[in-house]
Amino acid sequence: MSTPHVVVVMGVAGTGKTTIGPLLAAELGVPYAEGDDFHPAANIAKMSAGTPLDDSDRWPWLDAIGQWAHGRAGLGGVVSSSALKRVYRDRLRAEAPGAVFLHLTGDRALIEERMAERKGHFMPTALLDSQFATLQPLQEDEAGVSVDVSGTPEEITQRAVAALRRLES
Ligand SMILES: Nc1ncnc2c1ncn2[C@@H]1O[C@H](COP(=O)(O)OP(=O)(O)OP(=O)(O)O)[C@@H](O)[C@H]1O
Ligand SMILES: [Mg+2]
Repeated sequence: MSTPHVVVVMGVAGTGKTTIGPLLAAELGVPYAEGDDFHPAANIAKMSAGTPLDDSDRWPWLDAIGQWAHGRAGLGGVVSSSALKRVYRDRLRAEAPGAVFLHLTGDRALIEERMAERKGHFMPTALLDSQFATLQPLQEDEAGVSVDVSGTPEEITQRAVAALRRLES
């Protein structure tokens, strides 16, 4: 049997990381950790005020996520982290070299529509533009898969499971 994956669910705000992450984890029979929960309080305050984080805010957050992922090495796990830039993913891999990325991709209009319906969340819709401007998709040498987020959460999860399985073979 192959070693269970440690999956980092990545993508822009509103793409469905928090929705798909737990479904994927349940499907794989592994724990899920919410990337947002690893933010220091100062980061949450900044985002609540509509101020984008800068990279110095992100390093401790990414290190904490990477440490969780490393702790799941060989056991399997799913954690969300937008991981928009290659350097953020490099930082995560520095802690968790075996991590694979699941990039949830979708067109701007669909994601904006879903975000507009979302309530009680600290990420204002206005940050979506900067999210897309910052996004650097997975590169050839990065272990991972990209999955489109059209359809229901269950459909997306099945798509992700199938893509991750193909990654194994
Ligand atoms: N497949 C889907 N169909 C319909 N609505 C969805 C789908 N996936 C997610 N949503 C809804 O879209 C909104 C954004 O999803 P979610 O919060 O999971 O995104 P996220 O990537 O975790 O965002 P953030 O980066 O801001 O944490 C939520 O209100 C969620 O319920
Ligand atoms: Mg989320």
